[in-house]
Amino acid sequence: MDRDQLTEHLKFAAELGVAGVSRDPAWRTRQGDALVVSRAQDERTAGSSPAHAPAPSPLDSARGPEALEGSKGEPVTFAANAAEALAAVRADIGDCTRCKLHGQGRRQIVFGVGNPDADLMFVGEAPGADEDIQGIPFVGRAGQLLTKIIEAIDLKREDVYIANVIKCRPPGNRNPEPDEVETCEPFLFQQIDIIKPKVIVALGKFGAQTLLRTLDPISRLRGRVYNFRGAKLVPTFHPAYVLRNPSSKRDVWEDMKLVRTLLSEK
Ligand code: URA
Repeated sequence: MDRDQLTEHLKFAAELGVAGVSRDPAWRTRQGDALVVSRAQDERTAGSSPAHAPAPSPLDSARGPEALEGSKGEPVTFAANAAEALAAVRADIGDCTRCKLHGQGRRQIVFGVGNPDADLMFVGEAPGADEDIQGIPFVGRAGQLLTKIIEAIDLKREDVYIANVIKCRPPGNRNPEPDEVETCEPFLFQQIDIIKPKVIVALGKFGAQTLLRTLDPISRLRGRVYNFRGAKLVPTFHPAYVLRNPSSKRDVWEDMKLVRTLLSEK
């Protein structure tokens, strides 16, 4: 990190509510936050309901050669590794017409981006206008803030994997509808099952409520850890919400410290 990057990093950390920088080695090993640990211990479980049964095409292990199944359970191909397995899922989606969004002005499918072997995965709601143009999740203003949030815990965008519940832009950025979620979320579940992240950050009310099958407000869901498809799921505010409500940065920072602690656990 050069001097300018360091200045930028510290400025953003300060904006996120970080009071100072610690030389305590416990910080480096990411064990050092009593509040975070106690929150992590206050773990509720989610994801054990039938609604969270594996999607039709989970992969038991995406780290070795294996047969893949498509969204209807049909064999697709063999994958030597997670990158290939993800490519096979992307190929299975094709130029999708499974739900009505394909006829409502979306330009392209926004599948996901990042490290296929990531320990940390971010899940948003659905692509917006910028993402629809570029075909990459979180590249607009909210995406730029997400990149800073990732860097605030000393990771790079390339280290993590970023995807959305819905792969196509809903018209006018409306909320995805239940039939669209039902059709599309099996592909997200496949991505999760291939990547096998240690930690998933659900960004915003929609992503968190959808994955956890709850109508609890994000303000109640955040700050806690949930079991989800073999990962620890941490809900936090959506970066677009943070842009509109800068005071929420402090809570996001708390959530990211929790994420950092979870990533450091064996
Ligand atoms: N908001 C999301 O939820 N996802 C994106 O990819 C961009 C903005």
